[in-house]
Amino acid sequence: SFLVFIIVFLVLVDFAKNRRPKNFPPGPLALPFFGNMLNIDFKKAHLDFTKLAEAYGDVYSVRLGGWIVVLNGFKTVKEALVNQGDSLEDRPQDPLTTEISGNFGVISTNGYLWRQQRRFALLTLKNFGVGKRSLEFIILEEFSHLSKEITNLNGKPFNPHLMMNNAVSNIICSLVFGHRFQYSDKDFQMMMQLFDQALLLETSIWARVYNSMPGLMSLLPGPHQTLKKIWETVKDFLRVEIEQHKKDRDPEEPRDYIDCYLNEIAKNREDYAAGFSEENLVMCTLDLFVAGSETTSTTLRWALLYMIKYPEIQEKVQAEIDRVIGQSRQPSMADRANLPYTDAVLHEIQRIGNIVPLSLARMTTKDVRIGEHVIPKGTEVIPNLTSVMFDKNEWATPHSFNPEHFLNKEGKFVKHPAFMPFSAGKRVCLGESLARMELFLFFTSLMQKFTFTMPAGERPMMGFRFGITLSPQSQLICATLRHQEHN
Ligand code: HEM
Repeated sequence: SFLVFIIVFLVLVDFAKNRRPKNFPPGPLALPFFGNMLNIDFKKAHLDFTKLAEAYGDVYSVRLGGWIVVLNGFKTVKEALVNQGDSLEDRPQDPLTTEISGNFGVISTNGYLWRQQRRFALLTLKNFGVGKRSLEFIILEEFSHLSKEITNLNGKPFNPHLMMNNAVSNIICSLVFGHRFQYSDKDFQMMMQLFDQALLLETSIWARVYNSMPGLMSLLPGPHQTLKKIWETVKDFLRVEIEQHKKDRDPEEPRDYIDCYLNEIAKNREDYAAGFSEENLVMCTLDLFVAGSETTSTTLRWALLYMIKYPEIQEKVQAEIDRVIGQSRQPSMADRANLPYTDAVLHEIQRIGNIVPLSLARMTTKDVRIGEHVIPKGTEVIPNLTSVMFDKNEWATPHSFNPEHFLNKEGKFVKHPAFMPFSAGKRVCLGESLARMELFLFFTSLMQKFTFTMPAGERPMMGFRFGITLSPQSQLICATLRHQEHN
């Protein structure tokens, strides 16, 4: 009878949790124990979330572990993230992330510490804008290494995944460590592999199970323990770089992000709450790699696939580049204004590639009214960016690849308000301007030098894989040099 009592008790507790809290936005019926798990296929969650909006409106709620509010469509997402931005600036704190980050870094912290860390990172990235070690210089230098690798393949099929990851991660290395790595460097290769594994595990079912029963799971073996070990190894790698910097730095002449941060630690000794410490430096650095590598390289992989799928668009981009830049010099950011078609193509790649389909979760810092609904303080909120990038009220042909979305009748580039791949508001992507610079310089340089095709007889696979980012399926492609004499 004790057992019966326990079961009845658990069902009652679950039933209580299952009731949609009062005044909460509507949503599909939440089942006992499962909540709305069965409404969402986690291999295509962004599409299922978007579909639910058709039945329940732009603001609805689901129970996935806890209760979550999902925001849909350009108007609603903008209203929430921009107009009501102050009320939505926090991130929810899940147990696994908290354990790994120790409440440090930029991506998952909140409040005063987050504001100080974000301000510092933004300022430091911006200050790399000038001089011999400017971002533009670093990116173009990296491209010449990438270009050599691709040229050496002599048109043989290759998988662009690792190559793009290496190049893009090396940009972060240059910024953070003050140096790049040879692609063949053993330490570098190890770090790249660890990042790949960790990002896969982060989105596995194990991470979700861990977050629903952290106490129990932390005692049990499994991939969640591997994940923690991998992050520790990566952190150790970063600690070695930091120790080296402490030995050979000159506070008057900071060379990179680590040097600037070490100076900032010295400056903020009195302000403990701002969180400038060596442990936080490790985590902030890790965040730059996590947020800045996979995202940019995935976008570049989509770019190549779309150019392969639409060879006539690839040709038009190349013709514009030939006309404006020619073949005798590398592209520069100043060329952007004169390359409206290329710019529009790149924007369209980011729109349709939709690589961060559900943005990163936010949490309300107070009760907040969105339209006719009030979302209570402390609620997890998902801004569904997929529903913005494919919003049929905003885009002429939401589901087809159409650079005209960003061109006016005269063929001039025009911004589109619903273009939101970096999200918006207080926590908008911190690396947006760096990412845009990388995408522009890498894309134009690739198109200037190479033509991309599939291996004979094959078609590009345009399907996605849902993970930390929405990425293309793994496949081989070919690159041929456009101008042999330029080799
Ligand atoms: C956050 C997209 C590249 C650093 C984000 C968010 C999105 C995003 C959607 C969530 C923002 C929010 O919650 O509203 C992208 C895309 C990229 C890219 C599509 C490339 C194509 C980068 C790069 C860096 C970076 C290159 C850094 C070097 C960050 C950081 C955050 C962030 C630190 C967390 C900001 C915070 O919580 O305050 N990014 N990102 N990202 N991104 Fe990016």
